[in-house]
Amino acid sequence: MRILFTGGSGKAGRHVVPYLMEQGHQVLNVDLEPLDYPGVDNRIADITDAGQMYDVMQSYANLAELEPGNGMPAFDAVVHFAAIPRILIRSDNETFRVNTIGTYNVIDAALKAGVRKVIFASSETAYGICFADGEMKPQYIPMDETHPTVPHDSYAMSKVCNEATARSFQARTGADVYGLRINNVIEPDEYARIFPDFIDDPDQRRRNIFAYIDARDLGQMVARCLETDGLGYEVFNVANDDHSVDRTTAELIAHYYADVPKTREMGENETFFANNKARDMLGFAPEHSWRDYVDPVRK
Ligand SMILES: NC(=O)c1ccc[n+]([C@@H]2O[C@H](COP(=O)([O-])OP(=O)(O)OC[C@H]3O[C@@H](n4cnc5c(N)ncnc54)[C@H](O)[C@@H]3O)[C@@H](O)[C@H]2O)c1
Repeated sequence: MRILFTGGSGKAGRHVVPYLMEQGHQVLNVDLEPLDYPGVDNRIADITDAGQMYDVMQSYANLAELEPGNGMPAFDAVVHFAAIPRILIRSDNETFRVNTIGTYNVIDAALKAGVRKVIFASSETAYGICFADGEMKPQYIPMDETHPTVPHDSYAMSKVCNEATARSFQARTGADVYGLRINNVIEPDEYARIFPDFIDDPDQRRRNIFAYIDARDLGQMVARCLETDGLGYEVFNVANDDHSVDRTTAELIAHYYADVPKTREMGENETFFANNKARDMLGFAPEHSWRDYVDPVRK
């Protein structure tokens, strides 16, 4: 597929874009910074500027595309990752502005250019736990996509707003628009660098309800979304099958969630950030557990 990918130069994109290219897709990365990766085309453009988004959606990706002389080829899909990726980087209102207006512009321009598949990055933070003042617990575990999304912070508010925007654009056009509630993205080199700290300090992972997503498995998730047509609007939790600390799920429940209702029995190391919907509807099958990269050694 010929794909326009926003935010491909960032932490998640620099793994997801290569993953998609290895699957044979052609990628134009639209970002404020270029991605230095062989074969990727870059366009510097700002998602908050509607004119620039209209332009890039109906554009040649590189000089070679001029050669056939048939005019501009269309994009088969848009993957939208560009954003300010958490609170406390910019002012709260600027985070909300960039993320919401940017997402409106990207989806609007994509659908008006005739693109019929849009995949966009929402976030685990939509559930409110990650950036809550003090400790907020899930209302039930495992936490699936029907869990309420009533966050208290501007970043997560922007993601909830973007889900409403995407849902309305889908209703109006009938295109496929899939939202990804991505958990904490872990790059391959982070297993050696930061995971050893988590092993005996689960508190560090409480705000992610102990979950994580390997950046390459996030690539697989996007690829599955590209391959699966006809779902209309859907939102998916995206996490690995296991949680990110060296405790059993039962031990974590006893320590952190003893008073949280449990909707079913859970596996020995099963994540609280349920990925069953992505498994069932898309065939998502994460391949990279942190346990394959870090020796869990209890003190
Ligand atoms: N990293 C995580 O753990 C995580 C978790 C959940 C959701 N997400 C979401 O996934 C997406 C990617 O996250 P990330 O960690 O790679 O973030 P990142 O900040 O590393 O990358 C975001 C990219 O977007 C670009 N960008 C920012 N503003 C832009 C603008 N106005 N116009 C064009 N490009 C712009 C940046 O230059 C950057 O390359 C984001 O939407 C983020 O909210 C990330």
